[in-house]
Amino acid sequence: MYLSHTHTHTLLTPSIRAAMEARALRLSFLLITALLLLLFTRSWIHLPYNTPSKNRFQSNKNHIKNPPKRPKPNSIDHNTRTPLHPLDPLTVQEINRARSILHSHPPFSSSPSNSFTIHSLVLQDPDKQLVLKWKTGDPLLPRRASVVAILNRQSHILTIDLGSESVIRHEITSSSGFPTMTIEEMNSVTSVPLTDPKFNRTVRNRAVDLTDLACLPISGGWFGVKEEENTRRLIRVQCYSLQGTSNFYMRPIEGLTVTVDLDTKQVVEVEDRGRGIPIPAAANTDYIYKHNTNPNTKKSARINPISIEQPKGPSFEIKNGHMVEWANWEFHLKADPRAGVIISRAMARDFEGSDGLRSVMYKGMTSELFVPYMDPTEAWYFKTYMDAGEYGFGLQAMPLEPLNDCPRNARFMDGVFAAADGKPYVRENMICVFESYGGEIGWRHSESPITGMGIREVRPKVTLVVRMAASVANYDYIVDWEFQMDGIIRVKVGLSGILMVKGTPYDHMNKVPEQEELYGTLLSENVIGVVHDHFVTFYLDMDVDGSENSFVKVNLERQQNSGSKTPRKSYLRANRHIAKTEKEAQIQFKLYEPAEYHVVNPSKLTRVGNPVGYKVVPRATAASLLDHDDPPQRRGAFTNNQIYVTPYNESEQWAGGLFVYQSHGEDTLAVWSERDRDIENKDIVLWYTLGFHHIPCQEDFPIMPVVSSSFDLKPVNFFERNPILSVPPNFEKDLPVCKADASA
Ligand SMILES: *[C@@H]1O[C@H](CO)[C@@H](O)[C@H](O)[C@H]1NC(C)=O
Ligand SMILES: *[C@@H]1O[C@H](CO)[C@@H](O)[C@H](O)[C@H]1NC(C)=O
Repeated sequence: MYLSHTHTHTLLTPSIRAAMEARALRLSFLLITALLLLLFTRSWIHLPYNTPSKNRFQSNKNHIKNPPKRPKPNSIDHNTRTPLHPLDPLTVQEINRARSILHSHPPFSSSPSNSFTIHSLVLQDPDKQLVLKWKTGDPLLPRRASVVAILNRQSHILTIDLGSESVIRHEITSSSGFPTMTIEEMNSVTSVPLTDPKFNRTVRNRAVDLTDLACLPISGGWFGVKEEENTRRLIRVQCYSLQGTSNFYMRPIEGLTVTVDLDTKQVVEVEDRGRGIPIPAAANTDYIYKHNTNPNTKKSARINPISIEQPKGPSFEIKNGHMVEWANWEFHLKADPRAGVIISRAMARDFEGSDGLRSVMYKGMTSELFVPYMDPTEAWYFKTYMDAGEYGFGLQAMPLEPLNDCPRNARFMDGVFAAADGKPYVRENMICVFESYGGEIGWRHSESPITGMGIREVRPKVTLVVRMAASVANYDYIVDWEFQMDGIIRVKVGLSGILMVKGTPYDHMNKVPEQEELYGTLLSENVIGVVHDHFVTFYLDMDVDGSENSFVKVNLERQQNSGSKTPRKSYLRANRHIAKTEKEAQIQFKLYEPAEYHVVNPSKLTRVGNPVGYKVVPRATAASLLDHDDPPQRRGAFTNNQIYVTPYNESEQWAGGLFVYQSHGEDTLAVWSERDRDIENKDIVLWYTLGFHHIPCQEDFPIMPVVSSSFDLKPVNFFERNPILSVPPNFEKDLPVCKADASA
């Protein structure tokens, strides 16, 4: 029902071509009427770097007025902070310095400062070889800023050396695609539709008050239909009615799409294809606790308060602001405007073996997200978002809420980012780190009475979680990097937030004509949840006991046992195949052709002679089924396989390309991999895509319970034996006894 092809021919009609020329949009964020915008863009966007970030809905009458007080994050004074590790992010002072060097560099020096915008200003990673050699106490490596700026519609890429105060690289890009939008742009374009009389007329005709609008900036990808898609940065704006609910996403003004030029902030086109589609009612859409007046939901599902106590405090430390040390793990942690969280130099200590720190992963991060919606009609076909390269996965990560986003024993870390004018600001509490104990077991054995030995040996499993949550407009992505004492790094993605829904005239399935395609599920009266996918592609620069590694497919293959003396007819054998070049490491999963995927160090063997390694262990996942020639899939071609392996190249970190916005897909991981370079016994990068198909259901209304999946990076012959053998069990005397509150 959802994906029949009966309607796809309409893609070729002239009216849709017209729609396509407008192009580009996507939804991102909180938006809001022009009036409200004026009130709060200042407070939200131009955050001075030392003031707490404000709740973006604060000025909105429908939203919480007084967000809960957050604890002081971590006593770090960002104004005076200096970097202590080569991979530390740029500090407030460094961002200011980079900005002033840029302002005195031509052509920026001769341009009014409001004529260019900074789309990225981050640390230029020092050379990997130098970082590998660097030790605490050594002089810091030269500090450099990598800057992307737009001036006169051209994208400039610069490297600024902060020590010598000079620009050491300056290029104007010629490839397709544009830089990540700035938050300021995303905000400001949402008020642009109100400058168009046709838009105002249409909204009023639908009986919506122009002061009750919330509008979203929607990136529109690239479809190769019109020349202007190549030369202008375009965005689409779609609006919702805020009336009667904080959950405006459930009240779409269906089919009304305004295309805006992101540079000039002018309306390019207004399209209205939703006349006659009612705006769904506000009733039952709210999800804010205080707004909940339904007595049944208030009393349901009451459980006693629960919390984890650590009477002796957490057992991890965050040293020098970014180095996390816990149990047998050590790694560098930082926030990034594009990737969200970056884990670097992850090293594990082998308590059962040499006791030294051993390298596992040089760098791990979310490289790109691809979120295609499965509705090819005029107002929806372009919804094929790339949340990292278009919106900035880290830019969209809001402060985490203590006690609910992260438990009481969590510690928080801020992000320090550059605004569109290049000035630094602090995103407080963007990452949290905490020890997690969910009652799970690390290992166990008990002897049955047959042996009479009475053995009951169990170890509880405690892990260390690094968490962030990005709210890319309606959707929320929770990304956890979970470090386990058994050597596993579990990477978990949780999806929550609010569905992107579509208005429909139908209020019951029995009114939908049999031929009619809904492209989704009727979730409530006049509300369709449209079928869509989420793909989250991870960059995993594995350095297993050193940089020179190989990728090994271990295929489990059925062997016939013919000619043998036993009655068994078949068995499985693990056949190892070392991938020599990139194409041999393009992997699609197949249930009936099982395999393990190892990254090994061929020159480091265990005591009994196995190469040390880590394997990527998939869990529930999904593959993109779109036509490879569909423009969104060409841009999202990095999801064509679940695994890729490339030789390390510092220019190849963003799976959709450096400039994803309206890109044509010529700079993706899929294209690099086709070069088929050697990957055997080289410094290699593993790319893993975690996918979700989402056919919405009524439980996803009005806000979705978290759906999550994950994958593991798991040691495979990395340790000589079970690495958590000597972890002690829990003893009664070490654990606090919390008394129930007398008044409870
Ligand atoms: C559209 O309506 C808004 C809100 O009432 C108003 O500020 C704006 O001037 C109107 N635009 C036009 C072109 O009339
Ligand atoms: C490194 O990546 C860039 C961008 O894809 C490419 O132009 C260059 O050829 C690559 N270098 C090597 C050695 O593959």
